[in-house]
Order: sequence, then C-alpha cells, then structure tokens
Amino acid sequence: MAGSLYVAGVTEWGASHAVGPEKGETVVISGAAGGVGSRAVQLARHTGATVIGLASGHNHAWLRSHDVIPVSYGEGVADRISDAAPRGVDAFVDTFGAGYVELALALGVATERIDTIADFAAAEKHGVKTDGGAAAVPGAKVLAGLARLVADGHLELLIANVYPLTEVREVYAELERRHTHGKIVLMP
Ligand SMILES: NC(=O)c1ccc[n+]([C@@H]2O[C@H](COP(=O)([O-])OP(=O)(O)OC[C@H]3O[C@@H](n4cnc5c(N)ncnc54)[C@H](OP(=O)(O)O)[C@@H]3O)[C@@H](O)[C@H]2O)c1
Repeated sequence: MAGSLYVAGVTEWGASHAVGPEKGETVVISGAAGGVGSRAVQLARHTGATVIGLASGHNHAWLRSHDVIPVSYGEGVADRISDAAPRGVDAFVDTFGAGYVELALALGVATERIDTIADFAAAEKHGVKTDGGAAAVPGAKVLAGLARLVADGHLELLIANVYPLTEVREVYAELERRHTHGKIVLMP
C-alpha cells in the first residue's frame, strides 16, 4: 500500500494545490474514484471546500462516505453539476480528460483555477494549468505530509486490487478500460 502513495500522491497534491480550493468554495473533480481522483477528492475535502466528484453510480456510495457529493458523468453532466452547486463552481481538477477542461470553462470556472493532468492539448488551447507530481516540491516534504494524513486516518489509500507481477499484461488491460476504483498494486 505504501508503494502506491508516491506517484499518485504527489500528482493529486500538485493538481489540488494548483487550483487552491478553500472553505466555502466548490470544487469539481473528474475521475473521482480513480487512482489519482480518489485521493484528490479527499485532499480537496480536507481544505473545507465542498467537493463534487464525477463517477458512475457504483462509486457513489464510496464518495458519499468521504463527504464528497457524487455526480454521474455522461450526457447532462453540466446540468447535474449546476444542480449540485447552486452557488456555482470555483475550481475544477480534471484527472480524466475527454472534454472536462471545456466543461469547466462552460461552468464559468476561471482558467487559473482549472487543472488537468490528462488533457494537455486542451490545456494548451485554453491556457489552463497542468500541474501534477512535478509541482509537488519539495517532494520529500509533500510525501511526509501525505504519509501523516494516512497515519492519522485522514487519507484513505484506496486499493482496487493486488496482483502478482506475472499478471502485468492483464493489469494494463484493466487500466486501459479506465474504470479502476483506486490504485492497482503489483507485487514483485
Ligand atoms: N495513477 C497515477 O499514479 C497517475 C500519476 C500521474 C498521472 N496520472 C494520469 O492521471 C490520469 C488518471 O489516472 P488514474 O489512474 O487515476 O485513473 P483513470 O484510469 O484515468 O480513471 C479511472 C476513473 O475514471 C472514471 N471514469 C471513467 N470514464 C469516465 C468519464 N467518461 N468521465 C469521468 N470519469 C470517468 C472511472 O470511474 P467509474 O468507474 O465510476 O466509471 C474511474 O474511477 C491519467 O491520465 C493518468 O495517465 C496517473
């Protein structure tokens, strides 16, 4: 489990800090139950902001259990977000790609409060942020902070599954389907 903390951990930290959610604000996070998203929603919630997580129905209970408002993605998602955020959306973290930068802009979020770690073409086109792990400096300090949150029970490291290294091909096939709930761990 500890091995799954570093890359996803500093990535989610960099992305969340890039948009700076604060108490009283609302932040939307796409891919909210994935490897990065499942941690990003918890970090954002930790700031006191209201967090809306985009995920399919089978992940809604997990999001609710972490005080995140679940919203289903797909057709009509903009209206569902607006219903869940009557005072508007202040920040948007995109961990999935596929049009979420444009959705954030359509929701009225300022470019400097949109971060994507998945759609670099849209980021270049619209001038939004692409902060991820490289923005988490100094890395050792960020990692220590994340480890403390885990130790204190404030950050759950959601593990989708643990596989032996010999199954690495099947694991990549699973990752490519893009419905992992948390991180997959490979055991050497
Ligand atoms: N994992 C890492 O350590 C890491 C580190 C750096 C960068 N990245 C990058 O970060 C991105 C996210 O990677 P990831 O491993 O967290 O997960 P991912 O495989 O990109 O996404 C998995 C999640 O996306 C959700 N999802 C599927 N279709 C969706 C849609 N149309 N709209 C919104 N959400 C949808 C799934 O939720 P449902 O099951 O509910 O459908 C699932 O929880 C990738 O671009 C990856 O390259 C990842």
